[in-house]
Amino acid sequence: MAKWYENAVFYELYTRRFRDADGDGFGDFAGVYEKLDYLKDLGIDAIWFPPFFASPLRDGGYDIANYRLVDPRYGTMESVERVFARAHELGMHIMIDLVINHTSDKHLWFESSRRNPDGPYGDYYVWADDDKGHAGTRVIFSATEPSNWTYDPVRGQYYWHRFYKEQPDLNFDSPAVHREVFEIVDFWAEKGVDGFRLDAIPFLYEREGTNNESLPETHAFLAKLRAYLDEKYGGEVCLLAEATTPADENLRYFGTDDAPECNLCFNFLLMTDLFRAPRLGDAAEIRQTCRKLFFGLPKGAAWSNFFRNHDFLTLELLKESQVREMLAWYAPPQGMLNGGIARRLGPVLEYDERVIRALTALLISLPGAPCWYYGDEILMGDDPSLPDRDSVRLSMPWDAVERAQADPNSFLNWLRKALRTRRMCPPLLEGGFEILEGGPPQVFAFRRKAPDGQSVTFSIDFATMEYEWR
Ligand code: NOJ
Repeated sequence: MAKWYENAVFYELYTRRFRDADGDGFGDFAGVYEKLDYLKDLGIDAIWFPPFFASPLRDGGYDIANYRLVDPRYGTMESVERVFARAHELGMHIMIDLVINHTSDKHLWFESSRRNPDGPYGDYYVWADDDKGHAGTRVIFSATEPSNWTYDPVRGQYYWHRFYKEQPDLNFDSPAVHREVFEIVDFWAEKGVDGFRLDAIPFLYEREGTNNESLPETHAFLAKLRAYLDEKYGGEVCLLAEATTPADENLRYFGTDDAPECNLCFNFLLMTDLFRAPRLGDAAEIRQTCRKLFFGLPKGAAWSNFFRNHDFLTLELLKESQVREMLAWYAPPQGMLNGGIARRLGPVLEYDERVIRALTALLISLPGAPCWYYGDEILMGDDPSLPDRDSVRLSMPWDAVERAQADPNSFLNWLRKALRTRRMCPPLLEGGFEILEGGPPQVFAFRRKAPDGQSVTFSIDFATMEYEWR
């Protein structure tokens, strides 16, 4: 029997822009509560909440100042617990972000670390006397950050950060940091959280002479965290890796049967293939990716397949020639920022519902747990003129949702039906996966066969964007 997360439909709910119940211009948990029935009716099985903790919001909340406090702009802890409890009553699971690579520079740990190098928090961050170490490590937010090191005049040393300079990296060589992480996980699991999205997980450790990504120490830590969760919560609390890494490296985040790591991994490679195939009119890349990714996973491991999220549509995994193609097809006039395209699903595909429906049908027919980004069910717009990733984080237009609900031909209603069909189809939920080879190059076809012998064949023609389930 599959665990709940293996084929659940996830919904990334960007709370700040989802539903504003108190009208202060900032989405909140009281607003989420009002819309839980809407999500249930859409066919959502699990809600992923990006960080809603106390934060200066330099990075949309991925700069956490206190892991146990709800930022009052989102509501109270009670309002969060009410949402968790009601979602559970409705049969939905809850996932939150676990941002442990870094904190905000306003976190008390950092304040103490910089002021008191010999105190209990002195080694919580990665400090150095100069900025010469780890030369050559790529800078991820290169549009704003000249270096991964920033000088702190208080401590008189440099600290390491893979993202904004307001997000100092935690030091995973400190056992105390591990203990903190386990305590945070318990705190939220006890509040009813069923899963954690591991933000920026390849970057936990630094070792001179490496590229400081996906190091063996990071995998050892993940195996330890997974063992802890499995033992304590009977395998019901899952980990989802955010690792934008090439196929082989990404697969390693699942661990092995003997030393499992993450239950789920975001499928970044498939994501870009999904946008490329209809423009190429060819299935070769996607077929190749599926051959690499969907076989031989450890027991209970699954891909989280998705189109879009609250970040840019990342081009990080592509070859230079592919990046050029993607920019020519999809980039807004502003071009690429921090390695990605600031567009949402609807606008990036020019609201071409034929294409979007066909790709969605494919997404939900592949093995794994599809993850849907709030608003994409109404093909909501973006605004590439806004700074950074605000462009893809606009407020959910609830009047447009109501119109889509009332229109039998809307994408929203099509999606609802498609998710229902999937839910009632055991081969699509638990079936095996067999790629049907030998067809024309523009066609991608596969069979999913359930343990009871029932099977479904899905095929999509990227030249015509016709698709069918048989
Ligand atoms: C990945 C998150 O999705 C992104 O929004 C954030 O800026 C970085 N990690 C840093 O936490």
